[in-house]
Amino acid sequence: METSNTMKKVLVAGATGYLGKYVVKEFKKQGYWVRVLTRSSEKLTSIREFIDEIFIGEVTKPDSLHGICKDIDIVFSSIGITKQKDGLSYKDVDYLANKNLLNVAIKESVKKFIYVSVFNARRLRHLKIVEAKECFVDELNKSKIESIVIRPNGFFSDMTEFFNMAKKGRVYVFGDGNFKGNPIHGADLAKACVDSLTFNNQEIDVGGPDLLNQNEIAQMAFDVLNKKPRITHIPDWLRKLSLFLVRTLTPEKTYGPLEFFMTVLAIDMIAPIYGKYHLRDFFMEIKK
Ligand SMILES: NC(=O)c1ccc[n+]([C@@H]2O[C@H](COP(=O)([O-])OP(=O)(O)OC[C@H]3O[C@@H](n4cnc5c(N)ncnc54)[C@H](OP(=O)(O)O)[C@@H]3O)[C@@H](O)[C@H]2O)c1
Repeated sequence: METSNTMKKVLVAGATGYLGKYVVKEFKKQGYWVRVLTRSSEKLTSIREFIDEIFIGEVTKPDSLHGICKDIDIVFSSIGITKQKDGLSYKDVDYLANKNLLNVAIKESVKKFIYVSVFNARRLRHLKIVEAKECFVDELNKSKIESIVIRPNGFFSDMTEFFNMAKKGRVYVFGDGNFKGNPIHGADLAKACVDSLTFNNQEIDVGGPDLLNQNEIAQMAFDVLNKKPRITHIPDWLRKLSLFLVRTLTPEKTYGPLEFFMTVLAIDMIAPIYGKYHLRDFFMEIKK
């Protein structure tokens, strides 16, 4: 439903990404005026109708950001390395590029900064990606700008890995496969991000409506594909050994994503429930 936020202007950084696209749509749906930062406007074709203004800039290069926050009330950032292969580190992007944006936001008198980190970050801070994100959260907390830190559980987009393994005939899970989590759809998370402006919390933990263990996720993927379930349980010692080897033998850009997933899939990740989209429906959609 449209609300009366037409006077509020928001800058979305990360708009070309999985979450950012939903966030742009949600801000527009709730009546905001939306500017987006991108390094390539071609990636915005599918959400062009929800954008009022495009600012072309390179968030890692502060000189390209002058004026980006002019007349902006709220900055939202989901900028971070996931699958990008630019040769940059988490520190360069998740921390320092977001800091470039924060510096401009402060200079250009923005009132609020919403940033997307990860759920359970305090426990996971020893991981490279989390450390970079939390360094930025520290900067946000030190600054005088009002801020909201969103701490989401895993995204549905990442559950595609389970689906793809099932498609190939076998799903590999860690340990006995009983670690639980409640991943969230991008649309639900985007709504939580925009709705956060109406809460008083400075930090918001958020997960989806289904609490599932890895065996159940694998089983669901096989069900949707009408395939006989084949699940292999990887013993924990093998996970630990692999973690040690990738950390020792490969550069950060290789081991960074691996250490994150190999760690979060070996603990319970149960966040407060939010949203309405179910993983089964997401699997049905990607099956099409
Ligand atoms: N996936 C999860 O389970 C999960 C869970 C919790 C938190 N998060 C975090 O949530 C955030 C959003 O995730 P997502 O899935 O939406 O990620 P995504 O699809 O990869 O989007 C990331 C955004 O960051 C931008 N970006 C990355 N590297 C950049 C660079 N060097 N220069 C400029 N822009 C750059 C991308 O721009 P381009 O399109 O131009 O590359 C894109 O707009 C990430 O920080 C992620 O770590 C993810």
